[in-house]
Parts: sequence; structure tokens; C-alpha cells
Amino acid sequence: MCGIVAYIGKEQAYPIIIEGLRRLEYRGYDSAGIALMNGELNTYKKKGKVQDLEDFAEGKNIKGTVGIGHTRWATHGKPDDINAHPHVSGNGDIVLVHNGIIENYSQLKEALIELGHEFESATDTEVLVHLIEQYQAKENLPIEKAVQKALTKAVGAYAIVVFDRKSPDRIVGARKSSPLVLGLGKEEFFLASDATPIIKFTNKVIYLNDEEIVTVKRNGDYEVVTIDNEIQNPEVQEIDLKIEELEKGGYDHFMLKEIYQQPKTIKESMRGRINAEEGWVTVGGMQDHMTRLTGADRMIFAACGTSWHAALIGEYLFEDLARIPVEVEYASELRYRNPVIRENDVIVALSQSGETADTLAALEMAKKKGALLYGIVNNVGSSIARLTDCGSYIHAGPEIGVASTKAFTSQLVVLALMAMNLGKERGTLSNSYYRQLLYAMEQIPDKVSQILEQEEKIKYIAGEIKNAQNALYLGRGYNFPVALEGALKLKEISYIHAEGYPAAEMKHGPIALIDMYMPVIVIATNQSAYEKVVSNIQEVKARKGIVIAIVLEGDKEIKKIADFTIEIPETVEPLSPLLSVIPMQLLSYHIALMRGCNVDQPRNLAKSVTVE
Ligand code: F6R
Repeated sequence: MCGIVAYIGKEQAYPIIIEGLRRLEYRGYDSAGIALMNGELNTYKKKGKVQDLEDFAEGKNIKGTVGIGHTRWATHGKPDDINAHPHVSGNGDIVLVHNGIIENYSQLKEALIELGHEFESATDTEVLVHLIEQYQAKENLPIEKAVQKALTKAVGAYAIVVFDRKSPDRIVGARKSSPLVLGLGKEEFFLASDATPIIKFTNKVIYLNDEEIVTVKRNGDYEVVTIDNEIQNPEVQEIDLKIEELEKGGYDHFMLKEIYQQPKTIKESMRGRINAEEGWVTVGGMQDHMTRLTGADRMIFAACGTSWHAALIGEYLFEDLARIPVEVEYASELRYRNPVIRENDVIVALSQSGETADTLAALEMAKKKGALLYGIVNNVGSSIARLTDCGSYIHAGPEIGVASTKAFTSQLVVLALMAMNLGKERGTLSNSYYRQLLYAMEQIPDKVSQILEQEEKIKYIAGEIKNAQNALYLGRGYNFPVALEGALKLKEISYIHAEGYPAAEMKHGPIALIDMYMPVIVIATNQSAYEKVVSNIQEVKARKGIVIAIVLEGDKEIKKIADFTIEIPETVEPLSPLLSVIPMQLLSYHIALMRGCNVDQPRNLAKSVTVE
């Protein structure tokens, strides 16, 4: 949440920072701001999107070869021009942008007010810039030392970038629990919340670690020290990210592009990990820890949001195929209760961004208790990927639409492959079933393509239910978590209230809601409970609900009773969520579009939730 971009070098900073902020807009779009230095320090801030900032800055002095920018997701203080970053110190010399939350801001603020500091905004961030100013003035420190001192007093999470008008040839960045990446260009440096604003200029990056402070200088020098002043020798990494991956590529929205990428991204998630012909699955990240994984008393899957839904399907997969007991936890709950975690437990964290604050904190807690940490992550080099003992990247490529789509299916692929790999190792899968699963897995990308061909039909159904105020999603077994995911997709981008339920639970309460205005989306593909789902549909129809049923190709019975059906190809039941979720994604997309919603940047949301 919140995106940071900073530049120092020979080029004009403004276009680089604005383009970078656009790339990071998925992290927040409540307000945006920029500070540029060119003899004088100019700061422009505006409520709204990066485009609003650009409109505001038009015709103004935007010159400068050093600058810092920010796109905000509001935590403390409403989204307006004053609360927008950058924040400026009382003496007007120091500017700062921040991602995270300073938890002890009110104590710090009180102390600073007593010392004569005056505050303009309602943000927690502003205390940092005043604190840095205070240390600098009191002890006559260079900016990097003043930042270091100030951060020893700050409790909470931060990625910050700071600039001092008195030292125009350097920028200082620091991180704790919020990401910050340093890009090393030719006689230029970039600092950003992720590598996407940097990749156009350089693929050489340093991922800062917690409590590290970096100072970059115009002369090409940089230094990384810890908050305790230990000099670090950080690893320079070369990232493999192509600029086309960050563009819409002819699609109207990133979400649609990402839905359509799934045949390819699912293949990428499988690449090198499975060969049905030769009869093997090998998930690289597991091999060095196989004894611990196969011998685990239980696994705890921790995640948030859509990743939590993938984790629920993971529970079905691991218990069904590998017979390992699994508990699925909301990361935010796991970290704050007093869970029993033993050394023989394995904690599997699922996260697209690899930066979700609650998931990170849950992992840190489990690490202290000695559990093995396994990460299933998309974002290469992210905090969760680095904190875990081992793990597997899902290789879905950058996901920019705020509503997760392709990352979800790639998480499912990795979970399924892991469950098959473990099942084979533990001897819980018969050879014939194992082979059947392998072949079925390899056919998934083509089957996803087949479902995508039905977009027009799904669009038509979207038109029929777009004015609903509520919607119910029902599924059983492997497809119950898909019902939860379908409901989440609908509510987050179309703002229609939606609930997902295990189909059989409907009669224990939600059935009271059903009337002629209520669309009920039923996943009716389970071979094992087909008749039961048919009964559930009858119960909805008896109360005049509108039934949209996801059925297997060739289904006859449900077609007769449902208002609308969407056919999907058959596969083995453990892999069916990879197919049944696709119509859900397209349905939400089209409903949101028809309701005039901003599909890629839904209100109040941001991708990469780096605050608790
Ligand atoms: C919903 C969505 C969110 C994320 C959640 C966790 O479409 O994207 O619910 O799934 O914020 O994010 P990650 O996976 O980055 O940890």
C-alpha cells in the first residue's frame, strides 16, 4: 500500500517519477505527490490519481534531476491535498514520503509539539519529517544520520525516502516491514516500492532488508547501513522482468488481460515441475526439505483474501492427495491469537505480492517457534520469499489488476503439484491415480482457453444480473472455496454484496434471503455430489431465485432447471477449481464494467497490503 518512487541522476526526474507512480498506482490511488529539487524545492500534491497530480503540475516548475514521489492509500487522515505525501519539515528543508504506519506517532507528535513543531496534516507520516528535522538541528547531523537517529524512535512499519534541500546530491531511503528496492543505473539511482518503475532503466537492483538505511549520491556512490550503524554489503540482483509485462497489451483493463493470460501463466507455473509422459512431478523448493515436509505432523496454511481462498483449496488437496492434516488460518488471526505451533509444524504462506503485512508477521511469529516456513509467492525477491526457509514461486508474472485472478490459478497449480509430489513420496496415491492427475494437469491450460471462448455468453448473463443488490455463491467440496472466491471477486470490483457458502449450508440460514431478485451462482460440476447440488438448485428455484449454474459440458439435468448455465470441460475433481473459477472472474469483470466501476482500481482497495 502506497507507492514510492525516487530518482537522482542526470535526467529530468519528473517524467521518470510520474511514469513510475503510474506503475505503482495499484498500491493506492487516494492522492499523489512529488517533490523536485532544482535550486529551489518544489512540492506538488493532489487528492486523486496520478493523472490529477499531472494536471495540477502542468505549467508549473517541474525541473530537477532529483525528486521523490508518492501515491497514497490513506491510513491516518482522509485522502486530501494536505495529507498527501511528500511531507515537508517545518524549516522547509526536508521532504519525506512514507509507506507504512508509525504506531507511536501520537506520543512522538506530542513531544515534538512541546518542542515547538507545528503540524499541518493528520498523518502519522508527518511526525517522521519533524523528528528528522529535530535531530538534524539539535545535533547538526547530515541527513542520513538524522534519519538513522529518528528511526530508532519510530515504532511500526515504514519504507521512507528522504531528501534534504541542504544536501541536494543525495537521497536517503530506509525500510522496516514495507518494501523498498534500490535500482542501480548508469550514474543514476532509483528507489521504489517495487522494481516496476525501475526496470525500464536498469535490471540491477538491491532489495533492502528491514532496518537498513541506504544513502545514494549523485557521484555514483551508495552505502547501506543498519539502523545500528553496521555497514552492509548488499547483494546486487539482476531481475528478469520485461516492460511489456507491465502494459495492458491491447486489453481494456489489466484484469481482463490477466484473466486471458491464464492458459499461459498456468503453463508457466507447471514448467519444469511436471511431465505426464515420463510420469513425474517435482517441485524444486520442496526437495531439500522433503523429510521434514513428508514427516510434518500437520501444516498450517496462512494467507489473506484471495490467497486464503487458494489456501482452503490447498487444504482439500493436501489432505486428499497426501493425507497430511492441514489447518488454514487468516494470517491476521493466526498472529494475534496464541496458537500452538510446534517445531514439527510446517507453515505454508501464500501471497501474490509477498509483502502482505499480516502474512509476514504471522511467519515471523512462527519462525520464533521453530516451524519450517514455506512460501508460495508470485513476487520474486519479496519480503515473504526472503523470510521463508524454502518455497516455490508461482511464476504468474506481474499482476497489476487489484482483483487477483491469474495469481489465484497459479497458486492452485503449485498447491496441486506439491500435494501430488507429497502424495507420491508418502505413498498415499496409487500409481494409476497419480498418472491420471498428471495428465489432467497438463490439459488444464487448453481447457481454460475453451472456457474463455464463452466470454460473450458470460457477458450476456452479466447483463441480466448486473442490477442485483446481493448475490449468493454456492459450491461443494473442492468448489466451496471457489464460491467464496467468486463472491469476493464480485463484491470487490462491482460493489454488489455477495456471499459464498457451502451449498448444503444454504438451508441453515441464507435461504431466507432468496427471492426473485437474488442471483444464485452455483458450481455444479462435482461428480461426487451432483444429485445433492441438483437438490440445492431446486430449493433456490422453489423460492424464485435466479440460478446461474456452472456445469460440466453435456449436462442435461441442470440445464432444465437453471435460468442460465455455463459449461466447463470435465477434469479430475481436485483440479476442477482451476476451471470453475474462470467464469466467476469473467462474470464479475463484466458486471463491474456494466455498472461503470473502475475494474482495475476498485474504491478503497489497493494491492499489496503492507499495513495491518
Ligand atoms: C482480492 C485480492 C486480495 C489479496 C489479499 C492478499 O482479489 O487480491 O484479497 O488476495 O490482499 O494479498 P497477497 O496475495 O498479495 O498476500
